[in-house]
Amino acid sequence: MKNSIDRTDIESSPAYPASRSACPIKLAPLVDKLREERPVSRVTLWDGTQPWLVSRYSDVRDALRDPRLSSDPRSPGYPFVTPVLKQLELMGGEPISFVRMDPPAHTRQRRMLAREFTAGRAEKRRTQVEAVVSSLLDDIIAVGPPADLLEELALPLPMLVLCQLFGVPYENYAYFLELSKVILNLTSSQESLDESLGDMVAHVDRLVTNKAAHPSDDLLGNLVTDYEIPGMLTHQETVNLVLTLLIGGVDTTASALALGLLELLLRRDQWVLLLDHPELVPAAVEEMLRLHSVAATDGMPRAAKEDLEIAGVTIKEGEGLLLNVAAANRDPRVFRDPDRFDIRRKAEKQLTFGYGIHQCIGQWFARIEMQSALTELLRRLPDLRVSKPLEELSFRHNMLVYGLDSLPVEW
Ligand code: HEM
Repeated sequence: MKNSIDRTDIESSPAYPASRSACPIKLAPLVDKLREERPVSRVTLWDGTQPWLVSRYSDVRDALRDPRLSSDPRSPGYPFVTPVLKQLELMGGEPISFVRMDPPAHTRQRRMLAREFTAGRAEKRRTQVEAVVSSLLDDIIAVGPPADLLEELALPLPMLVLCQLFGVPYENYAYFLELSKVILNLTSSQESLDESLGDMVAHVDRLVTNKAAHPSDDLLGNLVTDYEIPGMLTHQETVNLVLTLLIGGVDTTASALALGLLELLLRRDQWVLLLDHPELVPAAVEEMLRLHSVAATDGMPRAAKEDLEIAGVTIKEGEGLLLNVAAANRDPRVFRDPDRFDIRRKAEKQLTFGYGIHQCIGQWFARIEMQSALTELLRRLPDLRVSKPLEELSFRHNMLVYGLDSLPVEW
């Protein structure tokens, strides 16, 4: 059946992103409503542009693998959800990261990283990841309750794992974290954004240059030896690849872990179920990921390179789209009673890591980090609980990646 939306009906296109004010761990009510009533609908962004918001699971998944949609911010119609995103994505006039490139440029760069990020490679690092988790928990337990699991576990974990993977000293982690807090803040002033980005680029530049002088068998060393020195990557491209991993891999994993733990701790029966059945940890992590699509939570931006149809609605060449993965992950057509946290459901179909050619390259690392953290928390702190009611927790509405400002716990 054709969708009955009139293409000229743009007056009714609501302001977007919509407020989540009703409940910080649910979708904005508008998004739920659009998914049920107008699954492909115009919305109005801060700059007056009116991209299409796509919100049903099957439409979002199909669109994510549709080669007629571009991820390149220079494509006509490409939507920028906030002014800072516009600045970040168009910096220097070209996409910095291959996540914002189309083939063949995207394919070329992704291939250079892919071998380091397979499920098998990530699995081989599980013991190292567990050791990082263990030492972070040693510190938390030594100090005693209360603790902030975001600052003390969820954020340092992916950053330390990346330092290990890159082959750079752990001392880098605090500096990177400090800079990325400014870079990922959607309300950062132009000046502080420029300054922090400049510092981050300069620091990564030094690390890469240092690897060229002292080659080593790690991700950074291999990128330099195999691609930069033979001239297949420019020095700037190598730096940009490292920046992509730092910016894409830390806040996302930290937020997914902290929000997922919050959901779990709020549902005591599920925590108890896991205490009795630790073999359900991988399923619990998929459910954590399903409920909180922390990256591009307002929709993954794309632009139509030619006319196409989604659920009966014609999208014209040069029009923008926001593929709302968060709405798709709560589509009742695919996930029954979707707002309920249920580790027994089959949540692996979740689209939190995207789909198609840009599907998250770091997903296996993220899963292993989240699984290791959860396993150790269950084992060492079985009485863990959130120390404040949900209404008193503070959520980040102003960051590129949705999440908590802190996760206060006691045991
Ligand atoms: C829970 C944690 C994570 C989430 C939710 C997440 C989410 C995503 C999503 C949705 C995309 C696709 C974007 C698009 O199609 O426009 C993506 C791509 C990417 N992610 Fe992740 N990510 C996570 C962790 C990581 C980690 C740990 C790393 C690296 C260590 C990483 C590196 C990347 C890279 C390099 C891309 C670009 C892939 C491409 O364009 O081919 N991510 N991620």
